[in-house]
Amino acid sequence: MQKTKYEDMQAKTPSESKTIMTDLVLPSETNPLNNLFGGDLLARMDRAASIAARRHSRRVVVTASVNHVAFNRSIPLGSVVTVEACVSRAFKTSMETVIDVWIEDRESGHRTKANEAIYTFVAVDDMGRPTPIPALQPETDLEKERFEAALRRKQLSLVLAGKMKPSEATELKAIFTEK
Ligand SMILES: CC(C)(COP(=O)(O)OP(=O)(O)OC[C@H]1O[C@@H](n2cnc3c(N)ncnc32)[C@H](O)[C@@H]1OP(=O)(O)O)[C@@H](O)C(=O)NCCC(=O)NCCS
Repeated sequence: MQKTKYEDMQAKTPSESKTIMTDLVLPSETNPLNNLFGGDLLARMDRAASIAARRHSRRVVVTASVNHVAFNRSIPLGSVVTVEACVSRAFKTSMETVIDVWIEDRESGHRTKANEAIYTFVAVDDMGRPTPIPALQPETDLEKERFEAALRRKQLSLVLAGKMKPSEATELKAIFTEK
């Protein structure tokens, strides 16, 4: 069977991968302060982001790295939590996903941003080998901003994982040398 080259694949937009998961915080998911346990939130974000990566690539995906997590606000027991994820940039076989976490006021319904994170996924074939994915075409200003910054984050992640020499991280170095 002829393999599909990633250059032949149709680019997709971030909205095509957008994934929204809403759920409650139950007592078994909290820490001694009755707030959502951090590990539980990481798993919720991993699930939503992996669905987004799968929607973009239409392949099996694995989590390659967690590049950034900010636990800005605690999430109390009983909260309604919404996790929103979408692909922010696709490379050859890997893709960056951004995740925003919101909590909802019970009476007003007003949403407040509680957390954010960035995870990287790799699309793999039946043998678990990295496989090419479609490009991403950002549309809005925010999507374009995230797209631009994603290469720096990829290089930082690779340098920290010992998979890239700092001297090869050209985009990353540019941050420290810009006037
Ligand atoms: C992720 C995995 C497929 C990468 O395999 P690999 O042999 O390192 O493959 P490559 O070096 O060809 O890398 C594949 C892609 O992943 C990217 N990548 C690998 N490690 C990365 C990291 N730490 N941060 C960001 N990107 C990374 C590479 O840059 C490459 O991207 P590109 O093709 O888009 O340019 C492999 O390490 C794996 O299967 N890990 C286990 C994943 C898993 O089980 N996750 C579940 C949670 S533990």
